[in-house]
Amino acid sequence: MERKLLEMQARALADLEGAGSLDELNEIRVRYLGKKGELTGVLRGMAALKAEERPRVGQIANQVRDKIEDRLNERTAQLKDVIRRERLAAEILDITLPGTVFNVGRLHPLTAVTRQIEDIFLGLGFSIAEGPEVELDYYNFEALNLPKDHPARDMQDTFFITQEVLLRTHTSPVQVRTMERTAPALPVKIIAPGKVYRRDDDATHSPMFHQVEGLAVDRRITMADLRGVLQVFAQQMFGPETRTRFRPSYFPFTEPSAEVDISCVMCGGRGCRVCSHTGWLEILGCGMVHPRVLEMSGYDSGEVTGFAFGMGVERVAMLKYGIDDLRLFFDNDIRFLAQF
Ligand code: DAH
Repeated sequence: MERKLLEMQARALADLEGAGSLDELNEIRVRYLGKKGELTGVLRGMAALKAEERPRVGQIANQVRDKIEDRLNERTAQLKDVIRRERLAAEILDITLPGTVFNVGRLHPLTAVTRQIEDIFLGLGFSIAEGPEVELDYYNFEALNLPKDHPARDMQDTFFITQEVLLRTHTSPVQVRTMERTAPALPVKIIAPGKVYRRDDDATHSPMFHQVEGLAVDRRITMADLRGVLQVFAQQMFGPETRTRFRPSYFPFTEPSAEVDISCVMCGGRGCRVCSHTGWLEILGCGMVHPRVLEMSGYDSGEVTGFAFGMGVERVAMLKYGIDDLRLFFDNDIRFLAQF
């Protein structure tokens, strides 16, 4: 039996030396050490041995198994190493080839401008509020003093989901939602950036665009506060030499209402093609919050006043960067986007 074991060991070791692949090594493992392998077969014969011989033969069997296993592991490592070397040798490394260029992304210009606007107003003590893009007729129109038959609704035609649910045409409904939530606490000082939708589509109008709304409500807020805040905004956004002017206007949710122009960013006010030789560029609408809007949102219009404004982010970005076609923002052409 002992001889049998040693003879098997010699054969196994010789086989291992001759093996040229990992598959062959594995076959050898199965053949000698496997459940139905030779070693198991020999051990089965131990039953026929005398009891006093068994420990010694068992010990030899263990030694044989360990030897074969050790050698098997060595050969496996050797072969793996050979395979790795061969693969490396076959790999041709040309260090003169250009490397892989990873394009680093950047903020979309509209995101960047929105954040700049936010930073300016955060610096002035405003916080950021949000509201839904799918909005109720009540918040988008009714509570902003635009009842169902109001002619000013025509300028803000939109996509209706039902009679009472629509895609918001401006960020002004966030004024109402914020006041409803806050009333009667004071002050209210928020800006509300976000997407808005209208039935418009040409070089200067997109069916989806972005606005930033502003609202301040407190005791004794005046138009001078509005003027001052917007002047600071214009200078921080477009440069310290920027001037502003207020022109009378009309919005149903403010009284009085105004449109704000900034001195032309291209010519500084002397007059050029960009400002149609007027020296001024319109950037936003604003006014003193209409008493009826304050009342509908839960504030006592005898007690508090407020100002509000709304600006188009695309328009601000176009003026700031001298972009002449709104659609460039939405074409997603990297050559355009990479410039900002
Ligand atoms: N919501 C107006 C629009 O989209 C812009 C606007 C004008 C907002 C005056 C205001 C405001 O808050 O006071 O045309």
